[in-house]
Amino acid sequence: RQVVFSGIQPTGVPHLGNYLGALRQWVKLQDEAAPESTLLYSVVDLHAITVAQDPARLRQWRKEMFASLIAVGLDPKRSIIFCQSAVPAHSELMWILSCTASIGYLSRMTQWKSKLALPDNVSPLDESSKAKLRLGLFSYPVLQAADVLVHRATHVPVGEDQSQHLEFARNCANAFNHTSGKILVPPETILSPAKRVMSLTQPQLKMSKSHKNPKSRILISDSRDEITKKIKSALTDSISSITYDPQQRPGVSNLIEILYHLDAAEVRSCHELAHDYKDLSMRAFKEKVADSIDERLSSIRDKYESVMHDANTHWLSDMNEEGSRRARASADATMALVREAVGL
Ligand code: TYM
Repeated sequence: RQVVFSGIQPTGVPHLGNYLGALRQWVKLQDEAAPESTLLYSVVDLHAITVAQDPARLRQWRKEMFASLIAVGLDPKRSIIFCQSAVPAHSELMWILSCTASIGYLSRMTQWKSKLALPDNVSPLDESSKAKLRLGLFSYPVLQAADVLVHRATHVPVGEDQSQHLEFARNCANAFNHTSGKILVPPETILSPAKRVMSLTQPQLKMSKSHKNPKSRILISDSRDEITKKIKSALTDSISSITYDPQQRPGVSNLIEILYHLDAAEVRSCHELAHDYKDLSMRAFKEKVADSIDERLSSIRDKYESVMHDANTHWLSDMNEEGSRRARASADATMALVREAVGL
């Protein structure tokens, strides 16, 4: 039986990278899943607090994330949509996994290093870096492993930046099963075709919610005007003619890839797509890209606005209550086996 699980941090309205790299895939899986399969999608607020958050803003972001998930096409009747913090078994399993997780393995993971702005290959840490490194940020992957394993998920759709975390989750499952019997399921990663959408202003970096410059990303709620402005100011180059060359021309190539994932639906390659537009000026090409993004996002944006301003102000608590009830049932079934196996 297929069990799909994935999560997203409530740290602002999702951007085009989240959409193409993950959310679109979540919806596709939902729409194509066999009736007996289970899909769980979580707003991972416990992960969000691994860096300092303002409580009121975090609550608002949680609401915006739920509205975004509905807007992109998830159906709370079909998929279990819930807040991570409403299902305590995630944290409980995290503790149990922590008791066998290797600090050596966690030390090699790259996310906490990038949050501390350290190079990926630092080792050992100096005292001042250690003082800045919070235990929660360091053990973030253990909570992520628990998210997936507590539902015995078989498939996890994510963007490429999460592959390392899922490799670790499989390692946690195997380590647990090795000592306690075959209880947890090592999950398979499903990488979406648009596994790494790049920043518009620094195309050597991935598009991210945490970059300072809001022009580096397009949000799924952006107006046509905002989309046009952001694409217009996207960093490209002054070479005339449009060609696909991610090494030499990262900016233009990122725009070609975005267009490819929006329009070409894998029937053509990025090179072929670039060839179609080779004679356009950069300005005209950018207009084409902005049009395609707007075309895709316009219904999502409308739906987002209508959900956010729904006169029924209970939709969020109703949805979260129903989602967390179903998620608790799924997690509790695993936890009964885990507790039994560990002797708790
Ligand atoms: P988060 O909130 O950073 O991102 C959510 C999803 O969006 C994908 N993504 C991208 N894909 C392509 N290009 C980009 N520029 C881009 N930026 C983000 C991410 O790969 C992700 O799939 N740790 C996770 C959340 C999490 C989780 C889990 C995921 C917590 N528990 C369990 C899967 C399973 C995170 O911070 O995602």
